Amino acid sequence: MIKNSDRLSLERLINAVAFSSETIDQTNNNDVINGLSKYPKSIAAKYFYDDRGSELFEQICELPEYYPTRTETTILEAYAPEMATITGSCELVELGSGSAIKTRILLDAYQKLKYPLRYIPIDISAGILETSAFELLNDYPTLEVHGLVGTYELALQRLNKFGINPMLKRMLVFLGSSLGNLNPQECDRFFEQITGALQAGDYFLLGIDLHKSKALLEPAYNDAQGVTAEFNLNMLRHLNYRFNGNFDLAKFKHQAIYNEYQRQIEMYLQSQVDQTVELRSLNLTIHLEAGEKILTEISRKFDLTQLEQDLKNKGLNPVKTWRDSHHWFGMILCQQIG
Ligand code: AVJ
Repeated sequence: MIKNSDRLSLERLINAVAFSSETIDQTNNNDVINGLSKYPKSIAAKYFYDDRGSELFEQICELPEYYPTRTETTILEAYAPEMATITGSCELVELGSGSAIKTRILLDAYQKLKYPLRYIPIDISAGILETSAFELLNDYPTLEVHGLVGTYELALQRLNKFGINPMLKRMLVFLGSSLGNLNPQECDRFFEQITGALQAGDYFLLGIDLHKSKALLEPAYNDAQGVTAEFNLNMLRHLNYRFNGNFDLAKFKHQAIYNEYQRQIEMYLQSQVDQTVELRSLNLTIHLEAGEKILTEISRKFDLTQLEQDLKNKGLNPVKTWRDSHHWFGMILCQQIG
């Protein structure tokens, strides 16, 4: 645990490099080995987010084609005061906090109501977590920040064990439709981890991208400037660094398609040639044929009513739901039942 000031502490639940002796997240290495050893090949989406990947994602959020960030921001700007009034005073916990730009809208709403500001950002990238924490401390003179560097799973386990202050309500915030990265089974497990980190009466605020036409969806993941392509390819650079690998980025191409049947964007890295790649610290050698694709991300597009029902079944009772005027994006505020 690092204490940078009396208003900031940062805790690392994972290490930047997997082959260091102190690796806590044992599942890390296995998920890469499993994903690349099966057919079709896949790599978990969390490997996008080294410091460079987090920067590229921030650039994606600014792209004209990428509507989710902007749209969610308009919903927050319109309704954060109402959200804060419903929840009352609470500590904010954010999964995948990133730059925490949208979080500021919520912090502003709580500040207006003169509530004490306590923020627990969670991110897998230490760099972006530190930068955004320092900026927040500067701009909110009474804010206290306790950051956790780690995966959702490790952070939610950790949350269970500290800071359960019966006097403080908790609101867990999960923005940007990151839920879309999880398949239905992973989603189920995730909701169980969420309820494990909350007490009866605590809140869960979820931002989700809604089903819409292919004509709107595909350009959002195939931007004209090629930032999404760079973001996708950066995953290979990250694996090279983390696992002493030799992926040649020039031998792969970015691809994103909307699977209308499954209602999900699928992002792939397609091998342009027959090739063999090694990840030395994992003792892993993989073969790729020309044209073979590695699935790097699914981004599911949801139906609000269906998701409200799923949350309810998990003990997270939807209190109120908001959408933008186009109905492109939704936010659901849930409360953990007793
Ligand atoms: C952060 C998972 C919500 O799925 O839209 C953006 C990631 N990938 N462009 C998304 C992403 C390509 C993003 N999420």
